[in-house]
Amino acid sequence: MTVDRAALLDSFRRTFGRPAQLVAEAPGRVNLIGEHTDYNEGHVLPLAIDRTVAVAAAMRRGDVHACALDCGEEDRFPPDGVAPAPGGGWRNYVRGVVWALGEAGHRLRGLDLAFTGDVPAGAGLSSSAALEVALAAAFAAASDLSLDRRELALLAQRAENGFVGVQCGIMDQLTAVFGQEGHALLIDCRSLQIEPLPLTLEGSGAAIVIVDSAVRRSLADSAYNERRRECAEAAAALGATALRDVTPDSLESRRRDLPEAIYRRARHVVREEARVAAAAGALRRGDLEALGRLLYESHESLRDDFEVSCTETDLLVDLAASVEGVLGARLTGAGFGGCTVNLVREEALEAFQRQVVDAYRERTGLPARMHLVRAAGGLRVSDA
Ligand code: GLA
Repeated sequence: MTVDRAALLDSFRRTFGRPAQLVAEAPGRVNLIGEHTDYNEGHVLPLAIDRTVAVAAAMRRGDVHACALDCGEEDRFPPDGVAPAPGGGWRNYVRGVVWALGEAGHRLRGLDLAFTGDVPAGAGLSSSAALEVALAAAFAAASDLSLDRRELALLAQRAENGFVGVQCGIMDQLTAVFGQEGHALLIDCRSLQIEPLPLTLEGSGAAIVIVDSAVRRSLADSAYNERRRECAEAAAALGATALRDVTPDSLESRRRDLPEAIYRRARHVVREEARVAAAAGALRRGDLEALGRLLYESHESLRDDFEVSCTETDLLVDLAASVEGVLGARLTGAGFGGCTVNLVREEALEAFQRQVVDAYRERTGLPARMHLVRAAGGLRVSDA
């Protein structure tokens, strides 16, 4: 575990005056490629990372009593008839999971819970999905619910869609549940089938580097929901169930039937879907140069067609492209700030730090941070 388990259990005991029964831990994720394809029923290629959120919990009578250890805040509410918390924030992830479990017909006991984590928040690395998945698993274990792992992921997504109000796809939650050490996950977001692909990067002398631009956009949620609506509009205008079913050629032949902006949103999605297939092929062949080129293409498309990048993440990608030994770079996650993912040869890591991270800090004054990550396993639940 990437968080200090003994410290978590100790904090739990001090907060609630009794020991925890169980610990549920789920990872954040970085998406290699396949951005904004999940809710278009297409494919994605993320990996779970070695940064996690861990929830310690023990059943109790009555209320849910939650404690966010990293910010020292609390929340208390009855498990039935959950209402959104005034002020939102982390409380609605806890409440949203309880709400979604109730909606699915599960009867919950009360719970004392405390959580901590090292997934950077709001950076596009899915700290919220990690928290929701770990919470859902903690509630399921404490209340003896029969929920399989896929249902758990869907339930965490339902909390986000129906309670928090972000119409996200299923990539983050599935990755938090099914992540595999040393593997990226090729996920078909229609059938929910997952094919783990070995990430033989270590052996080949390349690393996956995340750079956090330190830009956070407060309107990101509404802009995300707007993109989702635009994609649905494009699919409807093209008479398709989802953009996954539209090929680049058929989109071109119908270009005049679509408003320009909607056409460009659709063009990103249909080309990105093709890039995911190509990237999976490149990974299987161990062709990191080809994979890197696809990352750059994905970024251009997110910047120009899908319009979810910003000057700061564009700058990070441009700086990365100028460093010898960087194979590819792009915005990762929903966009509107957040992180880039970079494929970097190990011998270029020092130059990367200087010429990308330090240079970005100087140019923007923003405290960018670099994270070297490994592909990690998914959800784990254990006795305390
Ligand atoms: C967010 C959402 C995901 C996905 C990405 C964009 O992370 O939670 O479902 O849509 O954005 O690829």
